[in-house]
Amino acid sequence: MTVADYLQEHQDRAEAQLMEFLRIPSVSTDPANAPDVERCANWVADHLRSIGMPHVEVYPTKGHPIVYAEYLNAGPSAPTVLFYGHYDVQPVDPIDLWTNPPFEPTVRDGKVYARGATDDKGQVFLHIKALEAMLAVHGKLPLNVKLLIEGEEEIGSPNLAPFVSEKKKMLACDAVLVSDTPMFAPGMPSLVYGLRGLAYLQIDVQGPDRDLHSGSYGGAVANPLNALAHIIAQLKSPTGTILVPGFFDDVLDITHDEHITLMDLDYDEDRLLNDVGATELVGEENYTTVERLWARPTLDVNGLLGGFTGEGAKTVLPARAMAKVSMRLVPHQKHGDIAQKVMDYILQITPPGVKVKVQDLHGADPVLVPRDTPAMFAAVQALEETFGSKCRLTREGGSIPVVLLFDTVLKAPTVLMGFGLNNENAHSPDEHFDLSNFHRGMKAAARYYELMASTPRT
Ligand code: BES
Ligand code: ZN
Repeated sequence: MTVADYLQEHQDRAEAQLMEFLRIPSVSTDPANAPDVERCANWVADHLRSIGMPHVEVYPTKGHPIVYAEYLNAGPSAPTVLFYGHYDVQPVDPIDLWTNPPFEPTVRDGKVYARGATDDKGQVFLHIKALEAMLAVHGKLPLNVKLLIEGEEEIGSPNLAPFVSEKKKMLACDAVLVSDTPMFAPGMPSLVYGLRGLAYLQIDVQGPDRDLHSGSYGGAVANPLNALAHIIAQLKSPTGTILVPGFFDDVLDITHDEHITLMDLDYDEDRLLNDVGATELVGEENYTTVERLWARPTLDVNGLLGGFTGEGAKTVLPARAMAKVSMRLVPHQKHGDIAQKVMDYILQITPPGVKVKVQDLHGADPVLVPRDTPAMFAAVQALEETFGSKCRLTREGGSIPVVLLFDTVLKAPTVLMGFGLNNENAHSPDEHFDLSNFHRGMKAAARYYELMASTPRT
């Protein structure tokens, strides 16, 4: 029996097990879900044991546990791949907009709908199934494999960074493999060579010590909502230029060559518009859509809170207002430096009569991974053989905080080989994962591990 035969034969079982994984509400940001997050870590660890991984451990942290497994039986002269993924998921709000409850996975039209389906449980699980097939068919793996599956990616991986540094020897590898990114388009596999970073701030504005009658006090007492609107309006120009002094100091410009290669991808803007249901695309002048999405920084308000928002009208001058603001960053911006610059600027532009507090909630540094490593060539070959179509090299706009550390601490090149799609509603209601990519992903992963076994060590 071949690995492909095994995978084919066990398709239904793999789907049923994925549903079990998806049923666990491992929302990392909500303390109420901490027991579920822990249960999920144990579920992953148990599953890894059940497929025959010889060494599996759940490491507690100050936050959520890290699952680690290793297979070193291929011996010290064989290459080692470290797989990284996350078992935590984003919150489910707004819950009313889900067709099925987010933790009751449902298959419709060849897609499984559930929170975490594409980001990242489906993508993690396909690797576990690929390794299971290789172990079941051959009784062994042709290379050493380590798996690092964390529970805090969606909150900025605060405890993984120290773990990677502390366990540098344990995690030593020739290449890192991550499946937590989208493919270029349906049927078009891709490898991502750049991710944006993130700086995430919370702005709290305090005006009077209580809500006031807007007739009695409006005009003489500062309104924190107006003040916050004023602050937000000065962060970015109407055409999309970020106005924070020094914000662009470290931005690496897109070279002419990269501009041409990105143009050659022939990115489908109509499909993007259609996917998101917006009226037109906007953004920084003089840049193409892919450049705006992948290679230029942004600033977005993620949420606003304050004042009266109920039915009808209430004449009130609110005491408080709050905004969550995040910036996507590009090489060589550093999230700490950007957070500081934005905080300083906000304090400078704060209108009189209110107090402002700005907190740095979390962040990630942007990263570019090398495109000319043996690991990358193996990935291209595995994807092209499995999908029967050309593999594109793309960048992406999202962030994976730990990837930079694989380069700086482990000194290993990362391959970002994802099987999701951008329109699979990651972080949104009705998140889903195309089951055909789930199964093809398993084959591509198995082929990648096979090819890596005969790749020269770096
Ligand atoms: N899977 C995403 C990362 C991603 C999204 C890569 C889209 C490429 C395209 C990951 O789970 C994620 O959502 N990361 C967070 C990180 C943040 C909380 C530090 C993100 O990008 O918002
Ligand atoms: Zn995510």
